[in-house]
Amino acid sequence: MSTDPYAGFKAAQREGWALFAPLETLTTPPAGLLVEFAGVGAGERVLDVACGTGVVAVTAARRGAEVRALDLSPVLLERGLHNATLAGVPVDFTEGDVEALPYPDAHFDVVLSQFGHMFAPRPELAISEMLRVLKPGGRIAFSTWPPEMFTGRMFQLISQYLPPPPGISATTDWGDPALVSERLGSAVKELTFLREIMSSPALSPAHYRTAFERTAAPVIKLVETLKDDAPRLAAFRAELEALITPYLKHNVLRQDFLMSRAIKC
Ligand SMILES: C[S@@+](CC[C@H](N)C(=O)[O-])C[C@H]1O[C@@H](n2cnc3c(N)ncnc32)[C@H](O)[C@@H]1O
Repeated sequence: MSTDPYAGFKAAQREGWALFAPLETLTTPPAGLLVEFAGVGAGERVLDVACGTGVVAVTAARRGAEVRALDLSPVLLERGLHNATLAGVPVDFTEGDVEALPYPDAHFDVVLSQFGHMFAPRPELAISEMLRVLKPGGRIAFSTWPPEMFTGRMFQLISQYLPPPPGISATTDWGDPALVSERLGSAVKELTFLREIMSSPALSPAHYRTAFERTAAPVIKLVETLKDDAPRLAAFRAELEALITPYLKHNVLRQDFLMSRAIKC
């Protein structure tokens, strides 16, 4: 029997993210930016945490790194293997949890996560695991959503309709440089931040919303929860479209994301 108090939450995440694959077209460009920001080089041992379909892992492997990638979702890992095969690069994909990484201490030169480790319910545990498997002098780098940008605000809207279970940290906390700095603490040095822009094509706010209702775990779950409450579901959809509208111009939704990088002491 599992002793993880969040086992049920993680089982739901594992199922919920299974439909994420189409969104890899949106996360592919930022993956290129994260791998460059982390300065991944040939021959380095790299770990991609919460890898989804492996966009970061494959990008790092194409630079000649020796890459391992881990995610809760077996469906996405299978797609990751397909992506690595298409690219003609080896990536070792493993099913697992960022809060209990199945790797030895001080094993990797670089540990990365793109819009991934922020979904772990216990940020302190996730970060301590990511730092544990990193060599002293190695780099940790991750991308997250600032709370005041579209995706951060969407997560906050979702929490208003469907509050997270007690004790679970807000994913958008990871988009706040002050909190990132606090969580990494004295275990790292040379903490650096860079904001970049992510662009997502959409024909209308409803077009973007429906794409997310089909693919993004938190939105899928909320819509499923509200399926028998038509007025509340309609209210959520209207609020989400209102949130999308100011970010959408010339058929592209543009928003900043935050990249954080540090060296393990
Ligand atoms: C928004 S997707 C990002 C996927 C990928 N990194 C990308 O940029 O395309 C979030 C991913 O986090 C994974 N995830 C959520 N909680 C996790 C956990 N506790 N351990 C490992 N992976 C987790 C999900 O399965 C999903 O693949």
